Amino acid sequence: KRTDCLCFFVNGKKVVEEHVDPETMLVSFLREKLRLTGTKSSCGGGGCGACTVMVSRCNPASQTITHFSANACLLPVCQLAGAAITTVEGIGSSKTRLHPVQERLAKAHGSQCGFCSPGMVMSMYTLLRNHPQPSMEEIREALGGNLCRCTGYRPIIDSCRTFSQESKCCQGNRGVGCCLNEEESTEPEPSAPQLFNKEDFLPLDPTQELIFPPELMRM
Ligand code: FES
Ligand code: FES
Repeated sequence: KRTDCLCFFVNGKKVVEEHVDPETMLVSFLREKLRLTGTKSSCGGGGCGACTVMVSRCNPASQTITHFSANACLLPVCQLAGAAITTVEGIGSSKTRLHPVQERLAKAHGSQCGFCSPGMVMSMYTLLRNHPQPSMEEIREALGGNLCRCTGYRPIIDSCRTFSQESKCCQGNRGVGCCLNEEESTEPEPSAPQLFNKEDFLPLDPTQELIFPPELMRM
């Protein structure tokens, strides 16, 4: 094992760098060096979530793997030794097969100009890696750092809710009584117009996700 270079993985492929500029942030490394331009660069200051990626690390003592979302514009590449990075290219594409998160965001009309979509997808994807059936609270928290300049938040959240087991939400149609307004309601769900048919969706199959690189578990 070499200790004089930086080693981490991106979408299952090993990256070894010998002379990394300590000021290089992951977003520019991905886009300029690896030509992975799905991760967007926007505010550059951690404020918009367009650059969101998933970072996975193995705890060497317990051999447990943790996944968390991170703003690549704030992540120096030098901090990534031993980490596995997953970008939007790593989970699926229209050329191969869309990941259910990507497919549902598109089918629920959650992508307008699309600039925020990769970041939204990666925040949702990381949430589902940790909670395959998230609660509304977990969804809200996971997407709290992602801004959509087209302001299409409702269909974005709708697409993520399709993974949730909670089904009582009226999507704000009841105003103050809606869980989106953080108040309890016991009223039955009214019939709201649906923009998509859940039957059309690909199922989420956690066994099909990229595995954590075994090599990193031995580091
Ligand atoms: Fe806005 Fe990274 S580019 S949070
Ligand atoms: Fe345009 Fe979100 S779809 S910024």
